[in-house]
Amino acid sequence: MSHRVGVVGATGAVGSTLLEVLAERQFPVSEVRAFASERSAGKKVPFADGELACVSLSDESIQDLDVVLSSAGGSISSEWAPRFVQAGAVVVDNTSFWRMHPEVPLVIPEINPDAASDHNGLIANPNCSTMQLMIALGPIHRDIGIERIVISTYQSVSGTGQRAIEELRDQTHAILHEQEPATPAVYPHRIAFNVLPQVETFKDGDDYTTEERKLMAETRKILGDADESIGISATCARVPVYVGHSQSVNIQTRSELSPEDARALIGGADGALVVDAPGEGVYPTASDVAGRDEVLVGRIRRDPSHPRCLNLWIVGDNLRKGAATNAVQVAELLAERDLIRVPAGAAALAA
Ligand SMILES: NC(=O)c1ccc[n+]([C@@H]2O[C@H](COP(=O)([O-])OP(=O)(O)OC[C@H]3O[C@@H](n4cnc5c(N)ncnc54)[C@H](OP(=O)(O)O)[C@@H]3O)[C@@H](O)[C@H]2O)c1
Repeated sequence: MSHRVGVVGATGAVGSTLLEVLAERQFPVSEVRAFASERSAGKKVPFADGELACVSLSDESIQDLDVVLSSAGGSISSEWAPRFVQAGAVVVDNTSFWRMHPEVPLVIPEINPDAASDHNGLIANPNCSTMQLMIALGPIHRDIGIERIVISTYQSVSGTGQRAIEELRDQTHAILHEQEPATPAVYPHRIAFNVLPQVETFKDGDDYTTEERKLMAETRKILGDADESIGISATCARVPVYVGHSQSVNIQTRSELSPEDARALIGGADGALVVDAPGEGVYPTASDVAGRDEVLVGRIRRDPSHPRCLNLWIVGDNLRKGAATNAVQVAELLAERDLIRVPAGAAALAA
């Protein structure tokens, strides 16, 4: 059965990858409608062997769709996702706006596919950092149990979007040509040849950033840890890499787990690949993972300071598995389970 699919934010870093992945995975479509802002109305974006002309969001343009994959930012999703649902489409939303809403499932098909069954027309895609962390740790938590996670991230600029990619490129170009780069517009400091211990914002006087809070809260929601029995502590940093987030992760398991058994568990998990022969220079890097859907895991080793702790290095493509690929997999899951329909009587979601 073919579906009428809307892609919101089609000119953006995630939206353009969504169009790429939809075509690559041959999601059955009878129509694809590309939405962007009014600025881009009529602009052509590539899809499969052809192009689509972007349209802007309006009461008329959102009608007659079955599935909408949305990535135009939280404020757009807060307003338009419920309107798409009211118009009869199931929305898979990439923004952070709906992720922690109690009536919105937060789904990674390899980890918690059954959560999708309860949808009310809207399903959220986790944050890119949470996604790769869960692909690697999900099987360990399921089989052994995890008590505590301490994570430091090294996140690429494409995680912020198209303008941040351009800012890194322009600053790097200026510095390499011995010119003064323009004042940063996207990040609070220069990102070229620098590392920023800030991903997103410090909201309402919090000393953790919104990205760090999302990583901690979403991990608990996906693992079903409502009583907060898992300790999680996160520090997120932005690095001058175009695509691919890297993470240094320390886990404390409920019972002892050897690095060999951890490798076997992760290696057997859907969506993960162990790349781990450090003595031969074999470990995952951001440039290895860019353009791939698997989450790569290496440097799996004992933490000498605790018998139930391991260290790992986890790398994922934030635009693909971290966003677009997962959204398309969710659409595939919905299609497989005959869930591409807004349940009768679904109440309009309130933010
Ligand atoms: N980048 C990642 O790795 C990643 C991962 C997971 C989730 N996300 C989330 O996905 C969302 C998009 O991220 P991105 O990185 O793709 O950002 P981006 O490159 O800045 O793209 C933003 C997109 O939203 C569109 N847009 C802006 N205002 C609009 C409006 N009024 N109506 C319709 N479309 C509008 C833009 O269209 P114009 O070109 O016309 O302005 C553009 O297509 C964000 O919420 C982000 O948090 C991103």
